[in-house]
Amino acid sequence: MKIPQKGTARDEITKAMRAYRDTDADAARARLFSLVYATRPDVLEVAKEAFTSFFSENALNPMAFPSLRRMETEVIAMTLSLLNAPEGAAGSMTSGGSESLLLALKTARDWARAERPNVTRPEVLLPVTAHPALFKAAHLLDLRVVVVPTTPGLGADAAAARSLVTDDTILIVGSAPQYPHGIVDPIEELAAIAKERGILCHVDACFGGFMLPWVEKLGHPVPPFDFRVPGVTSISADLHKYGYAAKGASTVLYRTRALRRHQFYVHADWPGGLFVSPSVLGTRPGGAIAAAWAVLNYLGEEGYLDLAKRAMNATQTIASGVRAIPGLEILGEPVMSAIAIGTRASGDERPLDIYVIGDLMQARGWFFDRGQAPPSLHLTVSPAHEAIASEFLADLHACVEETRASKEQPQGKAALYGMLGSLPDRAIVRDALLELMDSFDAPST
Ligand SMILES: Cc1ncc(COP(=O)(O)O)c(C=O)c1O
Repeated sequence: MKIPQKGTARDEITKAMRAYRDTDADAARARLFSLVYATRPDVLEVAKEAFTSFFSENALNPMAFPSLRRMETEVIAMTLSLLNAPEGAAGSMTSGGSESLLLALKTARDWARAERPNVTRPEVLLPVTAHPALFKAAHLLDLRVVVVPTTPGLGADAAAARSLVTDDTILIVGSAPQYPHGIVDPIEELAAIAKERGILCHVDACFGGFMLPWVEKLGHPVPPFDFRVPGVTSISADLHKYGYAAKGASTVLYRTRALRRHQFYVHADWPGGLFVSPSVLGTRPGGAIAAAWAVLNYLGEEGYLDLAKRAMNATQTIASGVRAIPGLEILGEPVMSAIAIGTRASGDERPLDIYVIGDLMQARGWFFDRGQAPPSLHLTVSPAHEAIASEFLADLHACVEETRASKEQPQGKAALYGMLGSLPDRAIVRDALLELMDSFDAPST
């Protein structure tokens, strides 16, 4: 395919994009439990309007666009306050959770180079349930990862973490909550270990940073996870998740400005001019900053509390409905609006194949991620799911019964997931994933 010789009429382009979209997962009808944080239509409109108003502005140079600098500063100040940061804390906006985590690890690496010169092979402790973006960040920065196992409750095992710390450890990471099961790691214990050893502790609150504070205010039990916990030195919290901002917006926050300086990159000798940049991106889209600022101000604390209440209602309806279906279970004790559904033996029946249930649900238009070890279906519940919780449960019930009645071997996606999840040789699985990635833009025959 080439760029067309002549331009295409706007209505043709719109028509073509609509047609392309026809096969997409249905976020608008809240049948999607991943990737989109569905909220009220008016919130979406506010974000869209702000995004398009600042569509061309570039936060690469805050001197050229003081409006963006002001909005970013205000977004960071609001997020620091939400997460109970002390006086003197500081942060940056980034393009998403992955960038925030990459920066948190880069900060730790450069902090260690400056403050811990005896560390020759820097190590970071990551719970096995930590988001892959953290493993990717360690890979990109050439930091050694030491994996912390979980306890049977699926939170990071703090006692194991303690025994895994060495003189080369520079950072301990915990998640609030971790994505796979929505469980908050024992942040107080992990941060205490870090504090004792004089090293850093990052809390990955990309998922929960804009949800847990409201959940706590609504009276649900939330373990301490933010800057109130001594020893927590940095936190990442994504605006484009439960902050309901446009995609491309996250925050990374530090207990002190001095720590944040290790995040910056400076190049003073470039013929093109003096260069200093806070994050990974060069050009930084103004739209994402403006949309985040607009939504924070539009919703306010009351708006967020209302949305959190709806998401929690939907989660509780779904979770208790799932627990009432024989053979299904919720993994662990999730604290907010993310749950993983697994299967267990019921009576003398062996556990059903959750992936088969997932395929049947998908055939009915529901879309979610599939977890492994143990196999599960993952639901990120949004306020918009309040309206469809009963319909979801009715379909789930029907799909469980269909799976129970079926004598067939798993096929399609279920068979593939089952096989890839249980293969002991993970190198084969990695190859299969690379093959899949490579195939996405392969010419179709
Ligand atoms: C706990 C956690 N950390 C990090 C990320 C990565 O965020 P992003 O996809 O914005 O890069 C996610 C994404 O779901 C997450 O749940």
